Amino acid sequence: MCGIVAYIGGDAAFPVLIKGLQRLEYRGYDSAGIALLDPLLSVYKKQGKVAGLLEFARDVPTAGKVGIGHTRWATHGVPSDVNAHPHVSSDGEIALVHNGIIENYSLLKTALENQGHRFVSETDTEVLVHLIAEIKSRESADLEEAVRLALQRVVGAYAIVVMDAARPDILIGARKSSPLVLGIGADALYLASDATPIVEYTNKVVYLQDEELVVLRSDGTFEIKTMQNELMPPFIQELDINIEMLEKGGFEHFMLKEIHDQPRTIAECMRGRIHAAEGWVHLGGMEVCSDAFMNAQRLIFAACGTSWHAGLIAEYLFEDLARIPVEVEYASEFRYRNPVIAEQDVVIAISQSGETADTLAALELAKARGATTYGVVNVVGSSIARVTDAGSYIHAGPEIGVASTKAFTAQVTLLTLMALQMGLKKGTLDPVFFRELLHELEAIPGKVQAVLAMDKLIQQIAVEIKDKPNALYLGRGYNFPVALEGALKLKEISYIHAEGYPAAEMKHGPIALIDEEMPVIVLATNKSAYEKIASNIQEVKARKGLVIAIVSRGDTQIRAMADYTLEIPDTLEPLTPLLAAIPLQLLAYHIAVMRGCDVDQPRNLAKSVTVE
Ligand code: G6P
Repeated sequence: MCGIVAYIGGDAAFPVLIKGLQRLEYRGYDSAGIALLDPLLSVYKKQGKVAGLLEFARDVPTAGKVGIGHTRWATHGVPSDVNAHPHVSSDGEIALVHNGIIENYSLLKTALENQGHRFVSETDTEVLVHLIAEIKSRESADLEEAVRLALQRVVGAYAIVVMDAARPDILIGARKSSPLVLGIGADALYLASDATPIVEYTNKVVYLQDEELVVLRSDGTFEIKTMQNELMPPFIQELDINIEMLEKGGFEHFMLKEIHDQPRTIAECMRGRIHAAEGWVHLGGMEVCSDAFMNAQRLIFAACGTSWHAGLIAEYLFEDLARIPVEVEYASEFRYRNPVIAEQDVVIAISQSGETADTLAALELAKARGATTYGVVNVVGSSIARVTDAGSYIHAGPEIGVASTKAFTAQVTLLTLMALQMGLKKGTLDPVFFRELLHELEAIPGKVQAVLAMDKLIQQIAVEIKDKPNALYLGRGYNFPVALEGALKLKEISYIHAEGYPAAEMKHGPIALIDEEMPVIVLATNKSAYEKIASNIQEVKARKGLVIAIVSRGDTQIRAMADYTLEIPDTLEPLTPLLAAIPLQLLAYHIAVMRGCDVDQPRNLAKSVTVE
């Protein structure tokens, strides 16, 4: 959802900015731009990906030791050169990049136009740069003061970086509801939407807090202040990621690398948190709010996209193992519905990025109503991780492919551990079954590896589906959310319309769509509803649908009915999603590749949705 990178220091800014934009491209990729000071301001912007900007920049001067860059995911105004950031003041002196939305831009724009400012783009962002220029000239404020005053007049969300040809010795950054990280190098300072552009230069970072402003100086010093101009002591943290995590590592796409990473990431998520032989599970975050979990009358999960599907699996897990009522909410609906939230509720946000605007807002609402809040988050130091009362990181490492894969299975792993810990503590979980689940969890990474080894067969099935206009995914019980996730993966990256459905609901609508052109992917690993799933498959076959069945190893009954069968290792039912999700990820991946789609950067999507 727009990526920002900025540099001020002793070396050329341009290579740092371009590389940084490439790292941030997963956040948005409809246009990219750079502004440099040397000593005059030059701005280069191009619709399309960073590669296009780089090509364009071959023929233009790119010197300068201070600069800002931006990769855009359009909100206001179509993707175009002119709507790309940085935006520049009418006198050509001030340049600004922005991630977020300025909600009162229309009012501000009218006033600024009346004051003689010339707008050239359709963006909300452009008002900010003109407003800063206006305050600077009419109110004789210095750049820092002008930025502060301008931000006090805007309504909305922002992470911004501003530079001024009159002040080549400073850069100013600020944030509210959109992330911004300061990197502290040996002789340079960096600002970025996340740590990925910074990691190759330094591992020392400061995650700016909401409504903080930072002044970066070319001598390597910086100051963090509140919007009320109070100086804040910097909380310097060490990054726990490295460059290899940000590279494709020999895979053709990040998504494929991340799918193959799952045996490791699932194991990483469990490391030090369970011990099957000794029979324990321990999540420190849950201990922090142990009373809240023990006294809760219900749990509410709030999330978006793939994380919401993980939440649906959590509903099955917690109700099954910890016998507590669970609600799973789309964060965007929850926050605007005036929901009933009690102080005894525990509201659990699930988010890979930890920055999704709706999820963050849902949490803030829950907090305001007195509920305990908990975060299940991947990105360390992210906003959701910081605002919750407690939480557990999923430790999946950076996920770059826009379609979430390894974060999903790590979320499900973590949620399983949470349900086990709560179930054991509440006494709702049979100790023998608890032990069995722990042993089986330890075996899951190896079983995921076995599913990954079925790639050739999955590619053959992909050939059958790749030219179909639609696909239906069916599952029951724990496999129902997996069906939703499988359908989401396919539509996100291959643009084939796909729907996930509870298998038994098929006859209440989707059955009307079934003919020989409709592939139906059925998750049929369940033990508890096996015969019912088998009947659902008969219903599809009777209408000439093409059935691809995911079954447990050794299955014969469904194999005899389905057109294609994928046999995955057997496991305990609550852990089925961790295995069943994998072939669906690979299937979507291969179909998208066969259709020539841009797998890592599918059209219109962004990895991290920091606007509502
Ligand atoms: C976007 C991404 C999805 C992700 C969703 C929620 O739509 O493309 O992959 O599941 O946001 O993101 P979060 O970071 O909160 O998990």
